[in-house]
Parts: sequence; C-alpha cells; structure tokens
Amino acid sequence: MVIFGASGDLTERKIVPALYYLSRERLLPPGFSVIGCGRTPFTDDQFRAKMQEAVAEHLQLPAEEKAAFASGFGKGIFYLTGDFSQAAPYEQMKALLDRLDHERGTCGNRLFYLATPPSFFPVTIRQLGAAGLARPKDPSCNWTRIVIEKPFGRDLTSARDLDQTVTEVFNENQVYRIDHYLGKETVQNLLVLRFANGVFEPIWNRRYIDHVQISVAEDLGVENRGSYYEEAGLLRDMIQNHVMQLLSLVAMEPPATFLATAVRDEKAKVLRAIRAIPVERVPEFAVRAQYAEGFARGLKVPAYRAEPKVARDSVTETYAAFKFYIDNWRWADVPFYLRSGKRLAKRASEISIQFRRVPHLLFRDTPSEQIDPNLLAIHIQPDEGISLRFSAKAPGPTMQIRPVVMDFRYGESFGASPPTAYETLLLDCMLGDATLFNREDAVELSWELMDPILTRWKEDGAKGLAFYEAGTWGPAEADKFIKADGRRWQRL
Ligand code: BG6
Repeated sequence: MVIFGASGDLTERKIVPALYYLSRERLLPPGFSVIGCGRTPFTDDQFRAKMQEAVAEHLQLPAEEKAAFASGFGKGIFYLTGDFSQAAPYEQMKALLDRLDHERGTCGNRLFYLATPPSFFPVTIRQLGAAGLARPKDPSCNWTRIVIEKPFGRDLTSARDLDQTVTEVFNENQVYRIDHYLGKETVQNLLVLRFANGVFEPIWNRRYIDHVQISVAEDLGVENRGSYYEEAGLLRDMIQNHVMQLLSLVAMEPPATFLATAVRDEKAKVLRAIRAIPVERVPEFAVRAQYAEGFARGLKVPAYRAEPKVARDSVTETYAAFKFYIDNWRWADVPFYLRSGKRLAKRASEISIQFRRVPHLLFRDTPSEQIDPNLLAIHIQPDEGISLRFSAKAPGPTMQIRPVVMDFRYGESFGASPPTAYETLLLDCMLGDATLFNREDAVELSWELMDPILTRWKEDGAKGLAFYEAGTWGPAEADKFIKADGRRWQRL
C-alpha cells in the first residue's frame, strides 16, 4: 500500500492505526507493506518510529505491544521523500515496489491511497499513469486500486474535472472514493435494521413517518485545520458527503442484493429524486452560521474568526441546517431536516425518524398534542445503538401517559467495541468490495444539490450568516427555521 501525504494527520490518526489493527487481527498477510510518501524528509526508521508512536497513542497500546509493533508490522513500513508532483520519485517508487514484491512476497497487488490535500490529487493521478503504475503488474493475477479521500471536488464542475482525470488513468472498478461514514458500524447497521427486519419496512414511508432528522454534531472546533476549513466550510466538509450519504441510506429503496452495483444504484436513484433548492429560495431551506467564542468542556474557547489561519472577517460557515424533500412515492411531502456543526454542545450523531401522531386519542385527560409521537433514534456515535420511544401508562390510579424508551446498545448487546470505519473500509477495498464506497454518479448528484446553495451563500457573503456561542446547540435561527414548520430539533 502506497500512501501519498504520509506525513499528514490522516495517516497517523486513522490509516496506519487501522492497518495495524487489521494486521493484529490477522486480516492482512504477513508480508503486507506500506510505503509512505511525502515531502517532509524521513528515513525509513524515523517514519517507522513516528508511526509506532501514533499507533501506540491512538490504540492506547501497552508497552509490550509497542515492541511487537517494532519487530512485526513496523518492519513492513518504508518511506520515500520527494516532490510527488514530479516524475522522478515514481521511478524510485517502482523500484521499491518491485524490491518489496521480491523480498517480502507482496506479489504485485497495489493499493494507492491519496491522503494529500485535494489540490495534489490530479497531478498524483497523472504521474501514476505516466509511470505505468496505474495498471496491474500482471492483470491475470494482480490488482491495482486507488483510494481517493474526500473532498472529491469543491463543486460540480471541479468534481467532474477530477473524475475526468481519474478515468483517463484508472478504470472505474479500480477507484474507491472513500467516505468514512459509510464504514461506521451503526451506519451499516441501518441497512440491517431496514432490510433484515420485517417490522420496519412497511412503516418506512410517508403514511407513517412525519419527518426525519439527521444530526451530526461535533464539540471540537476547526483545530489546526484553519486554512483547509476556510476553503471548505461545513457544507463541503460534512453535508455534501457524510450527511448526504446518511440521507441516501435512510431513504433508498431496498436493493435486490447487497452487491456494490445494486446498492449504489439505489443510492443514486434517491439522490436523483431529491428536490433541488433554487438559488433564489435558498434562505427558505437553509440556515448557515459560525461559532463565536464560548465554552467547550468547561474551557473558554475562541471564536472561529480568532482561530489560527482563519480570516478575521471570515464568512465561512461552521454550522448549517437544511430541509430537503424527496420527490418520489415513498417520501413525497416528508421533510428531511439535516444539521451539522462544529463547536456544538457535544459530539453526537443521530438519525431520528419521527412517526406521525395518533389520529385520535381516547384518553380524555391527555390531549394528543401532549403525547410525544413515536421516535426511532439511530445513535451513530458515541454510544452506538438504537432506541424506540413510545407512550406508556405511568403506574397509579389515574391515566397518566409518559414517554418511555426501548433501548439497544451495541456495547451491552455484543460486548465488544466495533471496528473503526477505516478498518472496515480498507479491508473491503483490499478484498475488492466497493459496496461501501462512493460511485461517481452519487458524488456528482450530491454536488448538483449543493451548487445552488453554495452560489447563493457566496453571493450573500456576510448577509444571512448567523452566529452561535461555542458550546451551545447552534444559532437561534436554526430553531426558528424548524419551528416555522411546527417541529423542533431532537435533543441529542
Ligand atoms: C471529516 C471532516 O471528514 O469528518 C472533519 O473533515 C470531521 O471536519 C470528521 O471532524 C468527523 O468524523 P467523525 O468520524 O469523527 O464523526
């Protein structure tokens, strides 16, 4: 596996810990090797030591396992220093790959991972093609695949341009566009919940569902990613990819099989059915905001504009809320409310399916508006699980109705913590299973929906940008937005 951008954050926080975990579980062959590539100079040994520290920290390894890392998995880590926008380092890479095939028995299968800033994606892809590295060494028995990290483009046009570059060099079946939300255990479980249980599918539609909320809240700010975030903003960072993926899994029709093509076809179909928001009506369907100073985990934290590498008059959004409609038979007139933000009150991601109220309530003392409607909450993280809220009679002589919750918790039921998304997805990619990766049509369909919103926000600049205190649940404007429809955000 060759990782471009290996001196970056993603490599040490996610990719290499996931690889180490897979190797510890004996899911990787003993000869598995990693070549890190980057401009920052390291020797093999320095890079190995850096990865060992990173893995020890992220997986909280005991001292004896650190030693095992060094004598086992760590020995398969190598590093190439260079400017990978130029041709020269690719010759070195080819030589090293051939040497590893020979010395470590890696047999010619190659996985390239683009973990660089997105501006380097096209040139790296072209150089891989020019060096002859995009084709399998021996197509009869080897594979070559490429994993592309998000963001896949920054709007529809750039996503199409990038796709053109990719498909000039690679075949679509070699390309794995990663969205780590699809690898999360609870996200996959959404498909099992819907399609391996008889009780939910008959009520999973406009007759029984009042609305759906998808919330992805983070308590962290932009940390040290100010310059990236200034370019991206919340919509590009979270909504276009992660949140729209969740939406498509909640709303898609049952695929005929759990094979990549069938699942991806259904996801694309539902994205195609989402009603586009015209530029002139964006404020009716979207709210954007930015965090002001406040408190996080009891500590005073700065406003977004005071974060490092952020413009003092930045209008980049760190929070957004939307309402989308899906124009098909299953979902006509059911609003899907989406929201995500940084520096919110806590880290919590949840999909809430709110059912319709009962049509008539026979318990005279409790008017039906006072009874909370049924709610199916899929807790994506933390505290992974699913809960169903329903009404029950409180014990006592009078008829008092109270909401109660039936709860399934992953940890309690299975007694083991689920693998991380990167473990699942990296393994799937090596096994050639693209079901949980994005196909180009879905990426473009999602950008098509985002483009008018981005256009309007750019035109409006500071006008219409709301603010919220760090450590709260977002701007008052978002509460008003949903209240205007007679609904409210679920408490997470
Ligand atoms: C990344 C975004 O894709 O997802 C980050 O770039 C965000 O800004 C992260 O913090 C959230 O992922 P998770 O798995 O922690 O919910």
